[in-house]
Amino acid sequence: MKGVILAGGTGTRLRPLTLYLNKHLLPVGKYPMIVYGIESLRKAGIKEIFMVISKQSSGLYTDFLGSGEAFGVSITYRIQEQAGGIAEALDLAKGFILPEEKFVVLLGDNLFADDLSPYVASYVKQPQGTARVLLKEVEDPRRYGVPVFDTANNKLISHIEEKPDQPKSGYSVTGFYMFDASVFQLISGLAPSARGELEITDVNNVYAAAGGLEYDIVPGFWSDAGTFESLQEAAEKMKDLLP
Ligand code: G1P
Repeated sequence: MKGVILAGGTGTRLRPLTLYLNKHLLPVGKYPMIVYGIESLRKAGIKEIFMVISKQSSGLYTDFLGSGEAFGVSITYRIQEQAGGIAEALDLAKGFILPEEKFVVLLGDNLFADDLSPYVASYVKQPQGTARVLLKEVEDPRRYGVPVFDTANNKLISHIEEKPDQPKSGYSVTGFYMFDASVFQLISGLAPSARGELEITDVNNVYAAAGGLEYDIVPGFWSDAGTFESLQEAAEKMKDLLP
């Protein structure tokens, strides 16, 4: 299976560090953040990786990661000229995924301690045209996309609310999404949100509305390392996961 890692973006919450270095290259313990994402995919058997990066620090990605060989994967890079939302960045991977092919998408600042293989295996069994997301129980769901569960079918999410003031569950939708190539058709029909971006939550909600959005809840540590606080916590929690 193939994987797409989205590692562009401007990292405004991590300024001033991100004024000179792309967020996904900031150190988390001994390694740049991006290495943990690559390792999560590799461990799940996903070795063909399409990586969307920004112009900022693009040379450093190739200096450090090269073809991916030293990390046990093969990396294809694509530059995102300007940030326009997660779904827009994902659309850059269109030519990399074959018709009907299943694949995973990882936001490069999402760090997981768990082995993600069982969840990928569950998605492989799902029908074409459906999607799967990973959830994590969190203290303050208002910072994230929050799932509302389908009361008639406990395997399904009925819809996702993006950063709601009054969350209807105690979970975050993490930045690990499982789709097939139908997602690109769906993205082409999306309208920009109020903040002018193509939102991944809108993508997931199309699957949810059709009764095709399943989920797993990850038990181990997860972080969206987009702030100084979460970056430090991630360094501490992830430190024994890589040699
Ligand atoms: C994005 C998604 C959100 C998700 C989060 C996970 O938010 O829009 O649904 O919960 O990633 O990291 P962002 O961090 O881009 O604000």
